[in-house]
Amino acid sequence: MILKKSIERLVSENEQNEGAGLKRSLGPLNLVALGIGAIVGAGIFSLTGIVAAENAGPAVILSFILAAVACAFCALCYAEYASMIPVAGSAYTYTYATMGEFMAWIIGWDLVLEYALASATVAVSWSSYATKLLAQLHINLPPELTSSPFDPIKLADGSTLSGGIVNLPAIVIVALLSLVLAKGTKESATMNNLLVLLKLSVIVLFIVLGWSFIQQENYHPFIPENTGEFGHFGWSGIVRGAAVVFFGFIGFDAVSTAAQESKNPQKDMPIGIIGSLLVATVLYVAFSYVMTGMVSYKTFIGDASPAATAFAVTGFHFLNSALIIAILAGYTSVILVMLMGQSRVFYSMSKDGLLPSFFSDIHSKFKTPWKSNLFFMVFVSLLAGFVPISDLGHMVSIGTLFAFSLVSLGIIILRKISPDAKRGFRVPLVPFVPILGIGVCVFLMTGLPLESWERLFIWMAIGIVFYFLYGKRHSKLRKEQEHLDQ
Ligand code: ALA
Repeated sequence: MILKKSIERLVSENEQNEGAGLKRSLGPLNLVALGIGAIVGAGIFSLTGIVAAENAGPAVILSFILAAVACAFCALCYAEYASMIPVAGSAYTYTYATMGEFMAWIIGWDLVLEYALASATVAVSWSSYATKLLAQLHINLPPELTSSPFDPIKLADGSTLSGGIVNLPAIVIVALLSLVLAKGTKESATMNNLLVLLKLSVIVLFIVLGWSFIQQENYHPFIPENTGEFGHFGWSGIVRGAAVVFFGFIGFDAVSTAAQESKNPQKDMPIGIIGSLLVATVLYVAFSYVMTGMVSYKTFIGDASPAATAFAVTGFHFLNSALIIAILAGYTSVILVMLMGQSRVFYSMSKDGLLPSFFSDIHSKFKTPWKSNLFFMVFVSLLAGFVPISDLGHMVSIGTLFAFSLVSLGIIILRKISPDAKRGFRVPLVPFVPILGIGVCVFLMTGLPLESWERLFIWMAIGIVFYFLYGKRHSKLRKEQEHLDQ
């Protein structure tokens, strides 16, 4: 039997919990800022360079457009859901209502790949820029303490070390932000607003100042010829590039995990989700155009901080440190919102009995799931400190694309099972838009390396074992159902 939660039940559970659980403190501007906070980060500042160097050349711009289109279809689906089921679990809760408990578990488990791994990936990029900034201040951290044991290190003299010991700065930032989150949602949102303002100012500055340094010859060839291997330049490179820069758009869905903390979710959730995605898309296209116009895409080979490399040609050296500080601010906001999203998804799963109650214990004064924040502080720190960045990034993309496909499928089901339920927002042209969403997501997934697929299956297999050993046995809905059947 497929165990599903009805929409009415979800909404009424939510109303009953008012006051006892998470606090409603976020307005529409906070939500758009939360989205931009989660979206704009390593994707634009680091992956633009990596994809230009390894997959698409200047056509990384097309990769960004392709990824944005995929996200737009899915963002519309998220907006309908979040305006209808305003609870913290996002895709997990939506799937509980449409495809039942087992699929909901699969999605909740899969979202760890998105939120927890994205925080770890961005923490690694954060560390790379922080180390650069400290070096400018003549504080040189030993390279072994700024790299995972699996990331080769390029030394100043040109030689290479096979790997570091631990990425310490990445661990420090994850720990600090987890503590801020445990302290309070309002405080975290205020911090996020400031960080977003700072990073947006720098991106606009980069585009405006960099524009006059564009050299047309850097755009030729716009689509470098394929090397004979799938994904290495040519059209397949653009597709592979889109699958990778898709990472840069991840985060608009994190807005939906704050639905339970939104003051007016029916109206404000769609604004937060779609608004933040729109802003990010315009910025990404302009930014990648300027960046690949300033220097040849070949300059970015093996460069973990390409934005700083491109910016160096402007000769505005006094702005160099400011740029790095702002990039750090941007990354900080991504890690913050992703960590927040992760704890909110586990909060919902735990409330349903699928995870231990530990994850939904709310601090009496701070009104945050603080134990969960501390748990993920340790989990994400371990990943950020010891796992190589490229492995992490691909895992995030594949996990998120999988979640987005199921959310889009869920909208088609939802229109069948609850056609008349009250919605603050409706996806236009159902079922075409969700079908396109699923199609593009699956298409982008096929652009990711085989190892990412293997790891996705392994992670899911672990999750399924955990569900049968714990989740299924402790499910509150299942227990109620069994009680009714007796
Ligand atoms: N979209 C986020 C970033 O690019 C995860 O850093």
